[in-house]
Amino acid sequence: MKTRTQPVKKAAHVREPRTLVRLRLEKLCLAVEGRSPNELIHNAQSAVKEARFIELRLDSLPKPADALPLIKKFLHANVGVVALATCRRKANGGGFTGTLAAELDILAKAAEAGCQMVDLEIESAEGAKAAQLETLRAVRVKTKKSAVAGAAIGAVSSHNGAQTQEEQAPVALMISYHDYQRTKNLLKVAERIEAFEPDYVKVVSTAKALVDNLAVLELLKRRSATSQMVAIAMGEEGIVSRILGPREGGVFTFAAPSESKGTAPGQLTAYTLREHYRFEQIDAATKIYGVFGNPASQSLSPLMQNTAFRKEGVNAVFLPLKAHSVEDLVALFQELPMAGAAITMPFKCDVLPHLANMDAFTQKTGAANTLRMGADGKLYGFNTDVAGVVRPLERRMRIAGAKIAVLGAGGAARAAVFGLVAQGAEVFVVNRTQEKAVALARKAKAKTLKADKLAKENMDVLINATPCGMIGSKAALPLAKNELNAKLVFDLVYNPLETPLIQLAKARGIPTISGLEMFVQQGVQQFEIWTARPAPEAEMMRAVRHALEEAREKKG
Ligand code: ATR
Repeated sequence: MKTRTQPVKKAAHVREPRTLVRLRLEKLCLAVEGRSPNELIHNAQSAVKEARFIELRLDSLPKPADALPLIKKFLHANVGVVALATCRRKANGGGFTGTLAAELDILAKAAEAGCQMVDLEIESAEGAKAAQLETLRAVRVKTKKSAVAGAAIGAVSSHNGAQTQEEQAPVALMISYHDYQRTKNLLKVAERIEAFEPDYVKVVSTAKALVDNLAVLELLKRRSATSQMVAIAMGEEGIVSRILGPREGGVFTFAAPSESKGTAPGQLTAYTLREHYRFEQIDAATKIYGVFGNPASQSLSPLMQNTAFRKEGVNAVFLPLKAHSVEDLVALFQELPMAGAAITMPFKCDVLPHLANMDAFTQKTGAANTLRMGADGKLYGFNTDVAGVVRPLERRMRIAGAKIAVLGAGGAARAAVFGLVAQGAEVFVVNRTQEKAVALARKAKAKTLKADKLAKENMDVLINATPCGMIGSKAALPLAKNELNAKLVFDLVYNPLETPLIQLAKARGIPTISGLEMFVQQGVQQFEIWTARPAPEAEMMRAVRHALEEAREKKG
């Protein structure tokens, strides 16, 4: 290796690296659209109540140029708001039908109107002449700055005549890449963008599997020291990248204003990100949990467990994780890595071969609904569905010796039957398909009973472990009305809160337990397994009940 004694003289053609424009940005950028200039500004008005950083999607307007005077007025009135102007062309996934020159012109004018950042898609950057790009970058943004120390105070009081002064600054150029199909070659894409030395780099792909999030997070980890970068995977499977991106160095993430649906698939609202996922508090020490399933978005586990983490001051976040295979699940769990997870349909059984060890009920039922990462980096499986059935009952009665009918022979029924037999109950499996009832009863040391015999047997408890009565299920009742003969009815279905079976029992004066209790109790035990501390049960129950009631009201 050569040793250099003299500093090397720079060749004349070697340019100094560009000094990047660094804006002070909030971690959330709210994307704002409108069908008319007035609607865009109206939506921007509501967005700035939630965040001081907004993206104005000029390409959502039929004539973007018409909005520029209103944008200027709006930004002058809202000192401290940072606006990013986007006018993406149709060929590149946006809504703008004009030419490249027209796009560049609108972005330059938007900057003159006060937008401190402009987004140019990579296809446009590559299509433009160097001089055209330089013209755009040379635009000076005139913004009002509060003369009072502390911009936020100035911003608020500017309406009341507080002193402000005008400031000029170079516009920040963001160059963006969007892949609406998949997540591939992200590093190459980033290099393609970085060749232009933009102030901000934005790489957006589409997640087809959970592991795609790992590629996005890896990109951020590797590049964020040298580039001001945003990287996101769109789609329901990409939620991990939206929430954890800033932790890996992403400068911000995109969100939809709370009242809207969002401008990109998988985009979350500002409210959900802040209140639900406590996005701004996520740091290197935050433990990651989630529920794996397919579907996953309707699961109430994220709401319940995030509520519990917040109440108990646990630095953790719980995400809905739509998995396409058990391999996808295991890869994300181990490589993210995650501290624990809830497992739901259809992975409860498939996950077993990946476990280093499991509790007795997972072994017996052949299904795990809970994972914990051991200190050895291995996966441990638990079945807390059993506790979900047993705990609500043992609070009300002595289970040992009780006569209990379990309707169904699927996964939920297995948890109930094995759990109750272990407590000493006399359990009768009642199922539409008799062979399945016989097989389960034999394995669990329970008995079987034909449905038409239920009327004659006086059961202490009748448990519904079929999907009958569940929202969207065709069958309302899991048995004929005259077959109901029990001292207590426990319906494991929790949506709706009051199922036809619960209604029937109530009408007959029979005490009931709703599936909500099972759902919360299985979650309570999960929380205890993950954190080794008591769960805030009442808080968890309240959050889930409230969400179910709200959903019912919305449905009308
Ligand atoms: P889970 O894992 O949620 O318990 P599952 O494994 O699909 O769901 O099991 C559903 C159970 O409910 C099964 O025992 C099913 O009966 P079959 O074994 O005859 O399929 C039962 N089930 C589903 N729909 C039913 C209906 N309309 N009436 C009675 N039983 C029903």
